[in-house]
Amino acid sequence: MKITNICCIGAGYVGGPTMAVIAQKCPEINVTVVDINEARIAAWNDEDVENIPIYEPGLSEVVKEARGRNLFFSTDVDAAIDKADMIFISVNTPTKTYGIGKGMAADLKWIELCARQIARVSKNDKIVVEKSTLPVRTAEALKSILDNTGNGVNFQILSNPEFLAEGTAVEDLQNADRVLIGGDSTTAAGQDAIQALVHIYNHWLPKERVLTTNVWSSELSKLTANAFLAQRVSSINAMSELCEKTGADVNEVARAIGMDSRIGPKFLKSSVGFGGSCFQKDILNLVYIAKSYGLNEVADYWEQVIIMNDHQKRRFAANIVSNLYNTVAGKKIALLGWAFKKDTNDTRETAAMYVADYLLNEQAEIVVYDPKVKVEQIYADLDYLGSRSREENRKLLTVVNEPYEACRDAHAIAVMTEWDEFRTYDWERIYDCMLKPAFIFDGRNILNIKELANYGFNISSIGLPPFRKEKEPQKSIVI
Ligand code: UDX
Ligand code: UDX
Repeated sequence: MKITNICCIGAGYVGGPTMAVIAQKCPEINVTVVDINEARIAAWNDEDVENIPIYEPGLSEVVKEARGRNLFFSTDVDAAIDKADMIFISVNTPTKTYGIGKGMAADLKWIELCARQIARVSKNDKIVVEKSTLPVRTAEALKSILDNTGNGVNFQILSNPEFLAEGTAVEDLQNADRVLIGGDSTTAAGQDAIQALVHIYNHWLPKERVLTTNVWSSELSKLTANAFLAQRVSSINAMSELCEKTGADVNEVARAIGMDSRIGPKFLKSSVGFGGSCFQKDILNLVYIAKSYGLNEVADYWEQVIIMNDHQKRRFAANIVSNLYNTVAGKKIALLGWAFKKDTNDTRETAAMYVADYLLNEQAEIVVYDPKVKVEQIYADLDYLGSRSREENRKLLTVVNEPYEACRDAHAIAVMTEWDEFRTYDWERIYDCMLKPAFIFDGRNILNIKELANYGFNISSIGLPPFRKEKEPQKSIVI
C-alpha cells in the first residue's frame, strides 16, 4: 500500500514537529497538518519562519525546507481528511477536569470528536494512526466509532506513540532510538497498514529501530516509558532531600550510581520537580487504569511518583520562605525561567507555576524572566490555577524581558529552568544590585556555587547543604 497523502489532526508540540520531519524526509508524500485553532495555523503559515508557534531547536529550518513543497498547514479539516490515505490523530488528551475519573483519567473528548469527523468525511479506505498518548484499548473505541458511524469504508487503526522530548524534538525524530508501531497483524489488511507506516519511517531510520507490536502493547509501552522516566526523577529527588540533611552531594551520588551500566546516567538530574504535558498526565492515567482493574497496589506504587514530585516543588518554595527569615511578604523574588525545561517555550505543568503560586500565597512580589515564554502565557498559567483573581495575579507578579532588571533590588533569586544563558550572567553585577543578604535558590543545580559564594551570595541548591563564603579562620591571639 503506497501512501501519497497524509493528514495530521492537531498542530501542537507533537503534531507540528513530527509532520515537519516526515515531510522533510519523504518529499514524495504530501503532508497536511490541520487544527481547529485558526491563530495556531496562521502562525505555522507565517511568512517569517521564525514566528512558527512552537520553539524547538532546528525546527524552523525543517519547516522552511518543506513548507509549500509537500508540507501544508490548514484549518480545512474535512478537505485534508478526505484527501488522505493515512490520518494521524495528535490532538490533546488532558487529564479530565469533570465527572468520573476527574483529576486522573485522560479526557478523550477530542479523540472521539476526531473519530466521528473522520467517519463522516471518509469516502475511501483509510489508515488511522493514534499519535496522542491514550489509555490502553482506546483503539477499540476508535474502531467501533469509525465502523459504526462511517460510510462503509474500511479503517485500519495503528498505534504509533511519540517518544520525542521537547527541546530536542527534531533530533529525537530524525535520530529516534526506536519507533513503535502497534497494529493488527492477524489480518492481511492489518499487516499492510503496519508496513505502510514502517515504510514511511524507513525513509530515514534503519529497519531494526522500527518495532512492531500489537496495538495494546504499543499503547501501554508509551505510558510505561513515561512512568519509568518520571520515576527516576522522583527517585533522585527523594535522595536530594536526604542529601541536604546528611551532607552528601546529590550530583556526586547521581554520578556514582549512573556509572553502573545497569542503572545508566540519564534522567538522574535532581531538580525542583518534573513538569511537562506528559509525565504527570500519563502516570495519573496509569493509576486510574490500574484502579479500574482493582489493582490497588500497582496504582499506589505509581501514584507515589507524583506525590514525591509535588512534595519537591512545595519544599523548594517552603525553603525560600524559611531562609528569608520566615516571611516573604512584600519581598521581591526573581524567578529565572518559567518553561518546564530549557530550549522550549512550553509551560504545561511547569514547576515554576507552582512555586510562584506558593510564594504569592505568602504575599511575595514575584518578577519573572524567561528567554522564550511570552508574558500572556505566564499569566494564563497562573489564572488557570485559580488561587486568586486575574487582577491580583497581574498586580503581584510582573514579567520582564531582561534578567538584570528582574534581579534588581530583589531579596532572592530562584532558578526554575536550566537555560544555558543563566550560567553566563555577570553574577557579580547581579549581586551588587540586590538587597542584602542576597539569596539564590538554584532549582536546577546549574550555577557555580563557589564563584557565587565569593561574590557574597547565600546559596541553596537542590540536594546540597546550604553554601556561603567560608569565613576567614579566626587567628589565635598569643598573649
Ligand atoms: C498532545 C498531548 O499533550 C500528548 O499527550 C499527546 O501525545 C499528543 O497531543 P501536544 O501536541 O503537545 O500533545 O498538544 P497541543 O500542543 O495541545 O496540540 C494539540 C492540538 O490539537 C491543538 O493545537 C488543538 O487546537 C488541536 N485540536 C484539538 C484540534 O485540532 N481538534 C480538536 O478537536 C482538538
Ligand atoms: C517526556 C518524555 O521524555 C518523552 O519521551 C515523551 O514523548 C514526552 O514526555 P518531555 O516532557 O518533553 O518528554 O521532557 P523530558 O526531557 O522528559 O523532561 C520532563 C521533565 O523532567 C522536565 O521538567 C525536566 O526538567 C525534568 N527532568 C528530566 C528532571 O528534572 N531531571 C532529569 O534528569 C530529567
